[in-house]
Amino acid sequence: MSELVLQIKNLSKSFGKNKVLDGINLEVPEGSVLGLMGENGAGKSTMMKCLFGIYAKDEGQFLLCGKQVSFKNPKEALESGVAMVHQELNQCLDRSVADNLFLGRYPKKFGVIDEAKMLKDSIKLFDSLNMNVNPRTIMRTMSVSQRQMVEIAKAVSYDAKIIVLDEPTSSLTENEVQKLFSIVRELKKKGVSFVYISHKMDEIFQVCDQIAVLRDGKMIMQKQSSETEMGELITAMVGRSLDKRFPDVDNKPGDYCLEINNLSTKYAPILENISFKVRKGEIFGLYGLVGAGRSELLESLFGVRTISTGTISYAGKKLRFSNSRDAMEHGFALVTEERKLNGMFGKDTIKFNTVITNLDSYKTAGILSERKMAEAAEREIKQMHTKCVSSEELITSLSGGNQQKVIIGKWMERSPEVFLLDEPTRGIDVGAKYEIYQLIIRMAKEGKTIIVVSSEMPEILGITNRIAVMSNHRLAGIVDTATTDQEALLKLSAKYL
Ligand SMILES: Nc1ncnc2c1ncn2[C@@H]1O[C@H](COP(=O)(O)OP(=O)(O)OP(=O)(O)O)[C@@H](O)[C@H]1O
Ligand SMILES: [Mg+2]
Repeated sequence: MSELVLQIKNLSKSFGKNKVLDGINLEVPEGSVLGLMGENGAGKSTMMKCLFGIYAKDEGQFLLCGKQVSFKNPKEALESGVAMVHQELNQCLDRSVADNLFLGRYPKKFGVIDEAKMLKDSIKLFDSLNMNVNPRTIMRTMSVSQRQMVEIAKAVSYDAKIIVLDEPTSSLTENEVQKLFSIVRELKKKGVSFVYISHKMDEIFQVCDQIAVLRDGKMIMQKQSSETEMGELITAMVGRSLDKRFPDVDNKPGDYCLEINNLSTKYAPILENISFKVRKGEIFGLYGLVGAGRSELLESLFGVRTISTGTISYAGKKLRFSNSRDAMEHGFALVTEERKLNGMFGKDTIKFNTVITNLDSYKTAGILSERKMAEAAEREIKQMHTKCVSSEELITSLSGGNQQKVIIGKWMERSPEVFLLDEPTRGIDVGAKYEIYQLIIRMAKEGKTIIVVSSEMPEILGITNRIAVMSNHRLAGIVDTATTDQEALLKLSAKYL
């Protein structure tokens, strides 16, 4: 048995009356990867934030290589060899990559920042990780996935003994995921250990030596990956067995109502000549590799990207939205993939975030009704099974997956006719995913038109009626879900590469 790098003993933590962690025990051996799974709100991020010095624990001990530690802040943790890549990235977008790497520990020479050394060290770091990043690039100009890779490189640069990765692959491309895994394997050989938090089963099995499952703040199991399988993990996570991953897709699509004709966009990445028709009450999937133009297409339909040629019509009427408000007024809704940037008011409550896009409907005689707003918030908390203490809680105090539920709930309140969903289940646990699938099918049955983007092959095959595949900003083909398979989708997604 190799030496233990990290031991957690009897860890407990409450937020107010909400006991989030309850007597947790966990062990991570040197040079190994521990997968940490559990439903949204189970306590995964909180557990690691206690270790990292962001939250103060109530009870319990952390031992690092056998020695008791208690970090008061992340700086102390980093200096002692514990690094963490957070679920929600917190970067200075207007600064360069190098600045972000060395924030808080700038190398200095004669009292001023030694920028030459910073650049040199950055280049060395990226080279050692086989990553192609220019350290002078301004963060904002990079894609989310590239930013996430920078964050991972930063964690590595601290020469940590243990690195916590909290849902690191949520917006990585398949290539980047494989690159991350090879970095993890290389570092493992050097004795570095990882705690790998993820909802993605196949990744967990690919990269983890052991798997631990949290449920409602309690440690339910810790086992060798080779000694467990998917079914057992799901049962451990949700407390019951889920016999199916997808509900029956038993909606009955009606006549065509949304028609996109020869649509092209004006600014890069330019979408070219896209045409398709979607039926009322249909669940229409959009598949493609990351960067194929799926989000851009949804944004064009929603009026936030400039269209150069082509038409969009709904129920026989031509539409040309000039902004998102316009689109919303015509019954369109868009749930974006980057909730932190586009969908969420972080400094506000669940209630505020639920009612904000729909204020007019909570007015009585022209005045906002506190009661109606509270009812709306309660309705969506119940419908989405959002795990929270009350609707007055700040949305940022929710776990990542539960934040996503609030965002979807806010759009439900508008009862849109056309629902555009961009990766709606990203970061959401298996049980909640199932609930969102049910919700999508229910909306389709109510006659809503749904276009859903997903990068998860089983998901897109599991919940749609038809699937359009995009490749390199063009439409590569449309298939019936019932008669297609993974191979066909992959072939189409490579059509114009
Ligand atoms: N700063 C905070 N204040 C109050 N409650 C909090 C705070 N941070 C987390 N919580 C609560 O602690 C619980 C656990 O949250 P945590 O973020 O650890 O879940 P998680 O397992 O990481 O979930 P996810 O998979 O959605 O990321 C949740 O019920 C959440 O509402
Ligand atoms: Mg989390």
